[in-house]
Amino acid sequence: MAVPPARVVFSESDRSTVAAAVTEILSTGELTLGPRTERFEAGFAAAHEASHAVAVASGTAALEIALRCVGVAGREVVVPANTFYATAAAAVHAGAKPVLADIEASTFALTAESVEAVLSPDTAAVVLVHIGGLITPAVDELRQLCDARGIALIEDAAHAHGCSYLGRPAGSFGLAGAFSFYPTKVVTSGEGGMILTESAELRDEARILRDQGKGAFGTNHHVRHGASWRLSEVNAAVGEVHLRRLKEFVELRRSVAERYTAALAPLPGLDPLVEPPGGRSNFYKYVVLLPRGTDRDGFKREVRERFDVRLAGEVYELPLHRQPVFADLVHGPLPVAEDVCARHVCLPVHSDMTDDEVDQVIAAVSTVHSELAG
Ligand SMILES: Cc1ncc(COP(=O)(O)O)c(C=O)c1O
Repeated sequence: MAVPPARVVFSESDRSTVAAAVTEILSTGELTLGPRTERFEAGFAAAHEASHAVAVASGTAALEIALRCVGVAGREVVVPANTFYATAAAAVHAGAKPVLADIEASTFALTAESVEAVLSPDTAAVVLVHIGGLITPAVDELRQLCDARGIALIEDAAHAHGCSYLGRPAGSFGLAGAFSFYPTKVVTSGEGGMILTESAELRDEARILRDQGKGAFGTNHHVRHGASWRLSEVNAAVGEVHLRRLKEFVELRRSVAERYTAALAPLPGLDPLVEPPGGRSNFYKYVVLLPRGTDRDGFKREVRERFDVRLAGEVYELPLHRQPVFADLVHGPLPVAEDVCARHVCLPVHSDMTDDEVDQVIAAVSTVHSELAG
């Protein structure tokens, strides 16, 4: 049996619950910004111990809105070199210039030193990305650095539903946290995003921006240049149902990761990213560094063709300045990002993964690795 790179998990009973909710939504005609969105917001905030949540159309919208709330237009936003296109694109769309910073190899995250190296009087915000669900132990140092310079720290928590560091949840470290509910994410609403914040002011501003800059829902007074960034009630209903599974999904993913680590960490040359002390990951991705010089495409081909295991997408295959659209981004040397982007793979982790699937992945990775190494 093939092990796919990702699997969207909706049980039969969850599918029935969503179907009933959709029927109700269609019969009431409340298709957007209604009670389901409010419940999804309240549930997501509670799951992350946040005071406020604003549901939006996507994770990218969540990031752009958070950056617009900060007011980054005409200024610079620091992002890690190894992130998804959307992290930097959101800064561009908010009118800012993204500036790439290097990372460290144990969590693939920014460090205070790498950020400090690229700060300028024009820096308005720093976006910390919790890659694969790992929150860096440098998070407090990063916040202090930002606070001391009057710079906003924003979390790109697209990968980090239900993650924490020292018991503090993703979304609680910066001025705002931006989550994605894209289908492969640990919780999905089909499409969607969420902003978590402790700031009532940011919450109010985000609500205005997500609905065409209207001062209030139902009015036609446009007080800001917003956009159509609402989440539909149908998407909110899907998200609400999926959110109820967050705890059990994270538990299962963590047990898969534990088995991967036990089997693969002892192998010479393989270097899985493990939780830092005090960290609790959802293992949105299980990242393994391969030895330098490994032919990653060849590695992936072997595990696919001989073991029917499809590895998940990298985080990320190319640092952003190697993407054609960002070829002209300003940056200094990015040796760690360049190195780890080139030589890691992501093992499949599904919220309903079976022991047999885990065995199949471990056999594939350890066999191909030992052959290539030997
Ligand atoms: C790190 C990161 N940031 C932002 C996004 C954008 O989220 P969305 O696709 O919901 O717009 C994603 C994922 O898709 C992501 O992985």
